[in-house]
Amino acid sequence: MTQPIIALENLTKTFRVALKPEGRSLPWARTWKTVTAVDAISLAIGRGEVVGYLGPNGAGKSTTIKMMTGILTPTAGTLRVAGRVPWRERRQHVAGIGVVFGQRNTLWWDLPVQESLDLLRHVYRVPPARFAENLTRFRALLDLDEFRFKPARDLSLGQLMRANLAAALMHDPGLLFLDEPTIGLDVVAKDRIRAFIREINRERGVTVLLTTHDLSDIEQLCERVIVIDHGRTRYDGALSELVERYGGDRALQVDFADDYAEVAVEGATLESREGRRAVFRFGRGVTAAALIGRLSERYTLADLTVREPDIEDTLRRMY
Ligand SMILES: Nc1ncnc2c1ncn2[C@@H]1O[C@H](COP(=O)(O)OP(=O)(O)OP(=O)(O)O)[C@@H](O)[C@H]1O
Ligand SMILES: [Mg+2]
Repeated sequence: MTQPIIALENLTKTFRVALKPEGRSLPWARTWKTVTAVDAISLAIGRGEVVGYLGPNGAGKSTTIKMMTGILTPTAGTLRVAGRVPWRERRQHVAGIGVVFGQRNTLWWDLPVQESLDLLRHVYRVPPARFAENLTRFRALLDLDEFRFKPARDLSLGQLMRANLAAALMHDPGLLFLDEPTIGLDVVAKDRIRAFIREINRERGVTVLLTTHDLSDIEQLCERVIVIDHGRTRYDGALSELVERYGGDRALQVDFADDYAEVAVEGATLESREGRRAVFRFGRGVTAAALIGRLSERYTLADLTVREPDIEDTLRRMY
């Protein structure tokens, strides 16, 4: 990786939260505890990458993004985004990034979307010609004309997210932070947003950091994933390798050509059987080819399917 665009070293964020007052204790008698939301996370992201930032609820994903975008100040550790310390140089920092939080809106509720975009042109001092180019491009990619002259409050959630994506990119940021951008959307709306993210990355080289609980987002967009849990990094690497390394057993589904009283094969365990169909589970130490070889020596086979563990399965095992 050349000079990373995002670099975190031992980044930590703790919150002080009041415990429920016990009995009749008064506010000043409350006890406090410290919650460590992000616990010494280090990572580096290169220009042009699309990285999935994953983890169960409460893992610390949004807290990390809020520090990267300058909304929260770290408790400890260092953080540099596009060469800046986000919370210290907030104004310049914001000019270089785009941010979209799912189910949230950064546009003016009562203004037509187009007017919000026009206002952003002034806020970010986007040259008029460049603004016109971006608008044309985003109208096409996000089908903005469907709702461009409606106020934000009248948009469907899918339309609102499309409008917010356009708004987040009008000033040509090199970095885009997306915190659950597809949450609550139907499949068609999700696909549209994924296609847009892919296109923006391909066409403009925008670096994207994305959190989501929808693993189709990840499968369709990210080659690299970072998995965190309890504020700590659990995995950082290729998506393919994640399944390879942490994936559970594979499954071999066999349709026998005959009714056999008992079916068994060395190296796999029988998981289920129904009529002529049986499903075997097998670990990484065995190949599907070896199993199929052994099975076909003993039985007549009609059909075979091998199923790889999916990401969902893999993450469930990790968490
Ligand atoms: N402002 C805050 N005050 C106190 N605790 C907080 C605050 N913000 C987050 N936390 C706590 O920090 C931890 C991490 O929260 P965070 O929102 O970063 O998780 P997340 O990974 O984004 O989860 P989700 O998938 O549910 O969005 C949680 O235990 C949460 O309760
Ligand atoms: Mg979150």
